[in-house]
Amino acid sequence: QEGDAAKGEKEFNKCKACHMVQAPDGTDIVKGGKTGPNLYGVVGRKIASVEGFKYGDGILEVAEKNPDMVWSEADLIEYVTDPKPWLVEKTGDSAAKTKMTFKLGKNQADVVAFLAQHSPD
Ligand code: HEM
Repeated sequence: QEGDAAKGEKEFNKCKACHMVQAPDGTDIVKGGKTGPNLYGVVGRKIASVEGFKYGDGILEVAEKNPDMVWSEADLIEYVTDPKPWLVEKTGDSAAKTKMTFKLGKNQADVVAFLAQHSPD
């Protein structure tokens, strides 16, 4: 993958309308919106596991079918490139729907490297 985290931090400007990166102690790494879940610690985190966030049925089904699955960097790169085909692949349901109405066309590995930097252990 070999993403550039510093470049990814800039690219994350495209995400922050909907996502914040906030540490458990309340420290804002990136202030952002609440349309999407907090992305602090997302690398290695269980799919669709932010407490209190209202995920869509598609991603909840991925989590249900794969109870031990956590976000890998490779899956995150695929997901942010286009969430829908990733959901279709992981659920096996061609009608699976995503609530994330955004696709990142470039620098995916950089954004993921930035998120990995804010994912302890
Ligand atoms: C979900 C990343 C941009 C709205 C997610 C998840 C990730 C992610 C990793 C799944 C999190 C989990 O399992 O807890 C990103 C990145 C973005 C981006 C890296 C920028 C490159 C956006 C934008 C919006 C958005 C711009 C709003 C227009 C959402 C929503 C969900 C979500 C609503 C929940 C999906 C569902 O329940 O089906 N995002 N996102 N995201 N994101 Fe984003």
